[in-house]
Amino acid sequence: MAGVIGGLPDAVLQFAYLIAGILFIQGLRDMTHPRTATRGNGISSLGMFVAVAVTVLWFEILSPLVLAAALLVGGGIGAWLAVRVETTEMPQLVGLFNGFGGGASALVAGAELVDLTASGGGLPVGVTVTAAIAGLIGSVTFWGSLVAAGKLHGLVGDSPVSTNAGHGIKVVTLLLALAGGGTLVVQPGLVGGGLAEIVPSYWVLVVAASVLGVFLVVPIGGADMPVVIALLNSYSGLAAATTGFVLDNTVLIVAGTLVGASGLILTVIMCESMNRSLVNVLFGGLGSDEESEDMADIYEGNISETSAEEVEMLLDVADRVVIVPGYGMAVAQAQHAVAELVELLEEDGVDVEFGIHPVAGRMPGHMNALLAEADVPYDKMRELEEVNPTFSQTDVVIVTGANDVVNPMANTDDSSPIAGMPVLNVGEARSVIVNKRSLSPGFSGIPNPLFAQDNTSMFFGDAKASMQELVNVYKESR
Ligand code: TAP
Repeated sequence: MAGVIGGLPDAVLQFAYLIAGILFIQGLRDMTHPRTATRGNGISSLGMFVAVAVTVLWFEILSPLVLAAALLVGGGIGAWLAVRVETTEMPQLVGLFNGFGGGASALVAGAELVDLTASGGGLPVGVTVTAAIAGLIGSVTFWGSLVAAGKLHGLVGDSPVSTNAGHGIKVVTLLLALAGGGTLVVQPGLVGGGLAEIVPSYWVLVVAASVLGVFLVVPIGGADMPVVIALLNSYSGLAAATTGFVLDNTVLIVAGTLVGASGLILTVIMCESMNRSLVNVLFGGLGSDEESEDMADIYEGNISETSAEEVEMLLDVADRVVIVPGYGMAVAQAQHAVAELVELLEEDGVDVEFGIHPVAGRMPGHMNALLAEADVPYDKMRELEEVNPTFSQTDVVIVTGANDVVNPMANTDDSSPIAGMPVLNVGEARSVIVNKRSLSPGFSGIPNPLFAQDNTSMFFGDAKASMQELVNVYKESR
């Protein structure tokens, strides 16, 4: 299959792949810290560019002109999406990317089977086994990711529904997919004659796995989609790695394995941060309307409202302030106003830090990325374990757009959907200011007793408008 460009020895290709692999690994390493994450992204992208360009040129898959055009179109769409998509919509974008990766793996593995069959080279068992795995995982990933992205974007209903019919369809489609894969592996003679013969077993596998992918994700509550997307990310890597074995392509195996492993690590981190098992995410629901209604009366007569002027007075006499950002800060894009407030407070000698919960927002590192964008120094961002012991010595905590990550019910109510989730114990501070638009629940759909606590005041309003108002009032009072 290989057509060597310029008669270069095969070692050159392998060396280019080695470079790409090193770039991937260095990129991932850099992505483990917010300070180096942007560089890591660039390094990984360079690795992918090297891998793609070398592969298509080496194997003469495309002429350089077509390659340049494809890179231009693909890169253009990527750049357009990167600029257009809000950070709060990033999980669904990642979901779509995972899906395309899985779908491409299934198609490439199928194309290789067709190619080998047509060339009369026979189908070695190593190829059929890996192609069957790639087809199965790739198809599940493609359709599962489309459903997950649709749920997160509000295009697909997100109520967790688990029916016996649904379970039946999952079992039947899994058996069908296994039968298709089994035929491909056990009786390659059946598929050795050409396109017509290979279609039944491999494509039966693909169609059955596609239906399975849809029915695996449909019953999962929309609230659990970010975790599902991380898991599907891992699947897409696995599908790519197995397709790498089908093609005997080192860089695809390396890249796929890295994606598979990092996706799995991310899934585990997210589950641990929410104190939930993966099984519970995949097969249990999160949040209940019934509970929300029952608990809503905890606010009755216990909510005290505040204003920018009153918050400014508290800040005026504070020595230490902790700001806890959450999803609402991201939605409102309030990070710049928050950063300006921090600057003003620091100019007046106040010790200010951020308390960042590992799952604040909708994706890992969401808050860190937003605050970094607003030039907040990294050493101001304290992790949960670091900041929790300091709340009792904090004068004012400003919670802006966060809810679940500061909900004390996680520590006190075993029946709560967030029971056991480590939370920021902001209620231990002298005064707590909670800035959000209403008393509506957060992601988990449950009320928050913090809002009714004696030392808590609600500063209602959009996070950006409220923080900007606070900045203005603070400036005027100086
Ligand atoms: P949430 O609990 O989702 O609460 C966000 C709050 O922001 C809402 O109560 C909402 O209240 C408020 N809000 C929305 N728009 C606003 C705006 N424009 N201005 C001001 N406030 C606004 O957020 P959180 O505390 O960040 O917790 C994150 C949740 O996501 C956790 O339950 C976590 O388990 C879950 N989760 C996170 C991840 C990752 S990796 N981050 C992954 C999966 C699940 P109002 O409507 O009243 O304004």
